[in-house]
Amino acid sequence: MDWNATLYSQRHAFVWRGGEDLIELLQPQPGERILDIGCGLGQLTAELARSGARVTGLDNSASMVEAARAAHPGIEFIAADLVEFEAAEPFDAIFSNAALHWIHPPATAARRMAQALKPGGRLVAELGGTGNVGAMIDAANELLAERGHAAQSPWFFPGVGEYSQILETAGLEVTFALLFDRPTPLEDGEEVIAGWMEMFGKSLLQAEPEWRASVLPRLKERLRPKLFDKDNNRWMADYRRLRIAARKPL
Ligand code: BEZ
Repeated sequence: MDWNATLYSQRHAFVWRGGEDLIELLQPQPGERILDIGCGLGQLTAELARSGARVTGLDNSASMVEAARAAHPGIEFIAADLVEFEAAEPFDAIFSNAALHWIHPPATAARRMAQALKPGGRLVAELGGTGNVGAMIDAANELLAERGHAAQSPWFFPGVGEYSQILETAGLEVTFALLFDRPTPLEDGEEVIAGWMEMFGKSLLQAEPEWRASVLPRLKERLRPKLFDKDNNRWMADYRRLRIAARKPL
């Protein structure tokens, strides 16, 4: 993914805001070394650092990391892909919000996380869970199929059992897991669905080379019955989250 850091910060703040209470589940302690995977612009990394922990933000987008360093000069940020990441020193804890569903293959990502933790170290993560953005994916599938193309989801949205097994196979003990709906108001006015797809869903639609002209204008009307909240005059994304905590055995 080639992220537009400016647009992401202006219009997609719901991504990191949704993860704020995840920090409570982690309970970061002063002096702990914490790795924040998929840190984006570093808002939650900075929040973690306010607890007194020594936090490292990791993101595979060089533009995001550059913007995160500029915004939070006292924090270490590394531009690298988790599946190739080798920690110089193991961490007390790993935190990740809204990132692991992008990282492939998930089993390798889980192994890297297990390797990056000290014995007794903990993982707290939230990612899109099974059924996440289902209405958006279904509508994209329908519109592409009508044009003789097949949508290809770039995401991995697991259920509780599937992801627990992946973490356990990687050597972690799952201590908590919850799948829940989080309908999320979008912040983009009339161009909301096009804006979301431009930011996150390009690879879903790209099987149709003319997707901007042929699919985008129809997508919004196709989604209106499911995602437009008439009472409050706003669009909602049909997010479902998988929140999970695990521990590396001593
Ligand atoms: C999510 O956070 O669930 C998500 C974000 C962008 C694309 C797909 C899912």
